[in-house]
Amino acid sequence: MPSYHCVKSPMQYFNSYSRTYKFAFIYYFSGQPNHSGQTENRPTMYEYGVLALLLLGGLLVLNLLVKTRMHLLFPAIQDRCSIMYNVAAGGFKRELFKDMETLRDQPLTERAGDAASGDEAPRSLTVLEIGVGTGANFEFYPDGTAVIGVEPNKNFVGYLERNAAKHFPRVRLERTVVAFGEDLRGHVDDCSVDAVVITVVLCSVKCVDAVLSEARRVLKQGGKLFFLEHVAAEPGTWINQLQWVLNPIWPYIFDGCQLIRTPWVNVERAGFSKVDYQKLWIPVPFFVPARPHLMGVATK
Ligand SMILES: C[S@@+](CC[C@H](N)C(=O)[O-])C[C@H]1O[C@@H](n2cnc3c(N)ncnc32)[C@H](O)[C@@H]1O
Repeated sequence: MPSYHCVKSPMQYFNSYSRTYKFAFIYYFSGQPNHSGQTENRPTMYEYGVLALLLLGGLLVLNLLVKTRMHLLFPAIQDRCSIMYNVAAGGFKRELFKDMETLRDQPLTERAGDAASGDEAPRSLTVLEIGVGTGANFEFYPDGTAVIGVEPNKNFVGYLERNAAKHFPRVRLERTVVAFGEDLRGHVDDCSVDAVVITVVLCSVKCVDAVLSEARRVLKQGGKLFFLEHVAAEPGTWINQLQWVLNPIWPYIFDGCQLIRTPWVNVERAGFSKVDYQKLWIPVPFFVPARPHLMGVATK
């Protein structure tokens, strides 16, 4: 009988290991006999300690991964997720952005408070989108809109430019500014855009007030800030409790995103002449804690 040197395939290795772990898991959690011969199911303090250490270690590794890799991975994930998000939120976005048509068709001079006749003014709309990501809002903009995209993560730019060219030729991506929304001085002039758009961004920025202050600075007089954000749910509700439980780990998984922000407070104190908003429930698939939303328009 010849003897064969058997080389295991990676799959065979995986199967034998996973079987070992499965048995160890079943043995451990089905209870081991204690000194009096009875089966004890409750973990000891020592076991709780080991579990807590494992969890902490896992969080640290996750943190490291997020810091080093998530900036690379996030644009690819966001490119897919924004399609799902738009399926759930598309109706609300259409409703939110419908004022943009008026803003485009209204003469520029009128918006600036100038007395010149509106008939001579060309129809145009310049939108500054802060945290533009992969361009998920472009499909809702009126024809001919010129967009200035602000995005701090340069890995988004390729996705944005590709999507703009391939899917939204009606909209013109004027330029992309790689910068944080908190400080756009030197990139975007005072009173230079008709509208600012911020969607699902205030949850991740370092300073919500600074971003809103920049939005107001760059808007022309009478210009509008359109916002749609997932926010903290009403205190005392189960969803609010879930948000508080998940919030310590959520930013590690979703690139800095926080679940418990209340940006309506920031918008109200940002110095706009008029602020309208409503709270909504958007059934975003899978992301249950991010379903409570805030949608509104603030006018300079
Ligand atoms: C969840 S994504 C949303 C992207 C896009 N607005 C949308 O609705 O699909 C959050 C975006 O905010 C950007 N972001 C995070 N912090 C920012 C900051 N301080 N200033 C501007 N954008 C920021 C991220 O890089 C990312 O593109």
